[in-house]
Amino acid sequence: MPTTAETLARTGGQPISRILFSEEQIAARVAELGEQIARDIPEGEDILVLGLLKGSFIFLSDLVRQIKRPIEVDFLIASSYGTGTESSGEVKLLYARQASIEGKHVVLVEDIVDSGTTLNRLIPILQQRGPRSLEICALLHKHIAQNVVKEARWVGFDCPQEFVIGYGLDHSEKYRNLPFVGVIQP
Ligand code: IMP
Ligand code: MG
Repeated sequence: MPTTAETLARTGGQPISRILFSEEQIAARVAELGEQIARDIPEGEDILVLGLLKGSFIFLSDLVRQIKRPIEVDFLIASSYGTGTESSGEVKLLYARQASIEGKHVVLVEDIVDSGTTLNRLIPILQQRGPRSLEICALLHKHIAQNVVKEARWVGFDCPQEFVIGYGLDHSEKYRNLPFVGVIQP
C-alpha cells in the first residue's frame, strides 16, 4: 500500500510499511475503552485518570472524552533512561502530583506495554500513596512483559512485537502526530 502524500508530509518523506491500526479502528476502540472504564468503576466514586507522558498524550485526550462521567485528569512524567542512550532499567519520576491520589480510583494510562519495566517501577510508588484502586489502561500491549507487578485491566489492541509509531508513539521523538499506529520502513 503506497504511503499517502499527506502521511509523507507528516513523516518528512519516510514511507510507512504497514498501518496496524487505522484512525477509525482506534476511535472505535477508544470509545469502547471509555465506556468500559466508566462501567467498571463504581458509580459516584472519584476517578483520577493519570496519563504517563509523553507517549499517552493523544490516547489520553481521546479516552477522557469517552469516559462520560466526572473525572480528574493529571499527568506523570517518568524517565526510563539513565544519562546515556542505553536503558538503565531505572525509572525516575520527574513530575508527580503529591496530593490527591489517596482514596481515588486511579486509572494509569500508558501508550504501550513493552518490557513492563516502566509499570513495574511506577505501580509500587503509586500504591504507597493510598489510592482506592489502581488500574492500568494501555492502548497497546506487546505481551512480552514477564513478572509484571500488575497486568493492564483495559487494553486497546494486542500489538505485534515490532517497533511501532504514531498516535502519540515516537521514534526519536518523531511521528507522534500520525493519526494511526504503524510501522515505519527501515
Ligand atoms: P516498557 O518497556 O514497557 O517499560 O515501555 C516503556 C515505554 O517505551 C513505553 O511507554 C513507550 O513510550 C516506549 N515504547 C515501547 N515500545 C515502543 C514501540 O514499539 N514504539 C514506540 N515506543 C515504544
Ligand atoms: Mg517513547
